[in-house]
Amino acid sequence: MDQKIIYDFDAVVSREGTYAEKYDARERFFGSAEVEPFWVADMDLPTPAFLVERLRERIEHPMFGYTEQYDAVFDAIMWWMRNQHGAEVAQNSISLSPSVVTSISMAIQAFTKPTGSVAVLSPVYGPFFSCTQLNGRTVADVPLLVEQGRFAIDYESLEEVLTRPEVSLLLLCNPQNPGGRVWSMEELDQLAVLCRDNEVVLFSDEIHSDIVYPPARHNSLLNVECARDIVLMAHSIGKTFNTSGLQSSFTIIPDPGLRSRFRAAQGRAHAGDVNLLGKVALASALSPPGADYKQQLVAYLHENTRQVCERLQQLESVEVMVPEATFLVWCDFRKYGRWQDIFKRLIKEANVALSGGTFFGPAGEGWFRVNCAHPRSQLLAAVDRMVTAFSGK
Ligand SMILES: Cc1ncc(COP(=O)(O)O)c(C=O)c1O
Repeated sequence: MDQKIIYDFDAVVSREGTYAEKYDARERFFGSAEVEPFWVADMDLPTPAFLVERLRERIEHPMFGYTEQYDAVFDAIMWWMRNQHGAEVAQNSISLSPSVVTSISMAIQAFTKPTGSVAVLSPVYGPFFSCTQLNGRTVADVPLLVEQGRFAIDYESLEEVLTRPEVSLLLLCNPQNPGGRVWSMEELDQLAVLCRDNEVVLFSDEIHSDIVYPPARHNSLLNVECARDIVLMAHSIGKTFNTSGLQSSFTIIPDPGLRSRFRAAQGRAHAGDVNLLGKVALASALSPPGADYKQQLVAYLHENTRQVCERLQQLESVEVMVPEATFLVWCDFRKYGRWQDIFKRLIKEANVALSGGTFFGPAGEGWFRVNCAHPRSQLLAAVDRMVTAFSGK
């Protein structure tokens, strides 16, 4: 019988010499090459060894030419969606994509007019804004409400936005980054009904859906019955397996009409494939050993986020949003004054680089996001420095 693998997430592994953006771009974004980075949402925790081994086996063969989209990749995606998210997916509804952001761009081109507008619920991952604008469309921003320390959808404002004739696409982050909100079936149902009634395509970015903390459970939009004809779900192994640099993502679109419009946009951009190592990674990760790794990872990250929240809550002037999902903790520093000053103090006094809230849209101003996917000793030492720097000030 195979021995169960126990993953060691406490080990500190240097990323030096790997050109990791989180480290190498510190000078550019934070004015210091020494500041400890807790910003970009990738993990300082290793990809599982079984996955690395599959990649190693493949690179043993010295030819890296054009590669088919082979069945094992689709079988793995279908297995994962059924086993982890309770979604039955037909193989022909899956399209490969280099990244979720590429799929966002393709959806904007496929489902909006050049003068059109895209609805977003913010604060939300920056490219929801920038990708829309880079495609020449305008953003129809519907800020989320904060109710009892967590995000809630402002359905009244959303309905007003979705009835505008120029709005034909809603980009949803499910679960939400930042904030880590897991949207309930009731919330998703209400949202889908509004989209359907206003003929708005619903893009559900589910890249964070594997990292959900019990008792919360992810609800895929693929399981919302009334969304079947309007939904496009995007996912990736990037967050869960720390493989963002391999660029391996996919979309699932149950409706054939929407799917062909999306694929036509992918075809025009030549953006409907994954590189060959990405395919190996997808087929390897989305598997029973991958599910076992994910389960241990989620337990580790849950404890990390719990301890980070507990420590930051010692600061009376900081409001902390306890995440139900994602390895990211979203905190409100507005009581300390201008965000630009806080940003500098975090670097100078605490030696930490966090994601500043304005990256997530105007509603994020004054908030900061802590990436907790680090070995615990490193993470908690950094958070303790933050608490010391901001205590009583
Ligand atoms: C909500 C969300 N979507 C997409 C991405 C990026 O995904 P990809 O690298 O596949 O474009 C991120 C990365 O942080 C994210 O948080």
